Amino acid sequence: MSDWQFPGGDLMKGRRGLVMGVANDRSIAWGISQQLAAQGADLAFTYQGEALERRVRPLIESIGMSTMIPVDVTSDTDMDAAFAKLKSLWGKIDFLVHAIAFAGKDELQGSFVDNTTREGFRRAMDISVFSFVDAAKRASALMPDGGSVVTLTYLGAERVVPSYNVMGVAKAGLEAAMRYAARDLGPRGVRVNAISAGPMRTLAMAGIRGGRQLMSTGKQWSLLKEDTSMEGVAGCALYLLSPLGRSIAGEVIHVDAGFHVVGVPDEAGDDV
Ligand SMILES: NC(=O)c1ccc[n+]([C@@H]2O[C@H](COP(=O)([O-])OP(=O)(O)OC[C@H]3O[C@@H](n4cnc5c(N)ncnc54)[C@H](O)[C@@H]3O)[C@@H](O)[C@H]2O)c1
Repeated sequence: MSDWQFPGGDLMKGRRGLVMGVANDRSIAWGISQQLAAQGADLAFTYQGEALERRVRPLIESIGMSTMIPVDVTSDTDMDAAFAKLKSLWGKIDFLVHAIAFAGKDELQGSFVDNTTREGFRRAMDISVFSFVDAAKRASALMPDGGSVVTLTYLGAERVVPSYNVMGVAKAGLEAAMRYAARDLGPRGVRVNAISAGPMRTLAMAGIRGGRQLMSTGKQWSLLKEDTSMEGVAGCALYLLSPLGRSIAGEVIHVDAGFHVVGVPDEAGDDV
């Protein structure tokens, strides 16, 4: 079990939201959930099918929650049922956490040009980008008093990263989709933002060839000389989802120990 530390308080007391993307106790969505619960939020969860239920149920029960809805985001039927259930349960919600992405292993290695198939491209876009648009639309319909939506992205959207390939293209699409959703939903008082997290040891990361190296380089070249922490990512989500994040919309906040601002790493500069 993780040893992350999350400060408690009342920042989210009386607020209810949906978390999409907890697969196990290393999931970013799980770190965010623990932080939200520690601040008094009420949470409902979607999970990807029966295989994950046994892993996810004890986690959510450990923070005093019970609502779990199976959802494959490529299924309109699943999405219809999930949001109908949420509506009948709570009527309205205050926030949505979208922490879902997928690309095939074959596509997350080697040459982007050679390894990206039409079907792989379509699937990565559907699961990693359209699911956000779809979930933001459905969740915002349950936010008559306004609310906040957060999704998770990565630097591979802005710069080329080995093996990230089609997922980098998907994340670029996700960031653009986040801005368009922020424009549409802003006038209704719904703030939409993204967190660009540095590499973290999760299931999704394990699917990327050379993921371990991405992590060690991330640490070595970062300004803080440390791994991206779950506490930092969850703290940023709390900030964006709570009243602390008021007036922030259409933003991508990097939580990556400062890695994204480095142009030339210290090691290379030593010889110049
Ligand atoms: N781990 C990192 O280094 C890192 C860095 C930046 C951004 N992110 C992003 O954070 C988000 C969460 O990933 P994570 O690293 O916590 O890994 P994770 O594997 O724990 O989470 C990914 C989630 O996506 C879900 N998912 C995939 N396909 C689905 C489908 N068809 N229907 C429903 N759910 C589906 C999985 O069930 C899982 O819960 C992703 O968007 C990922 O790209 C991760």
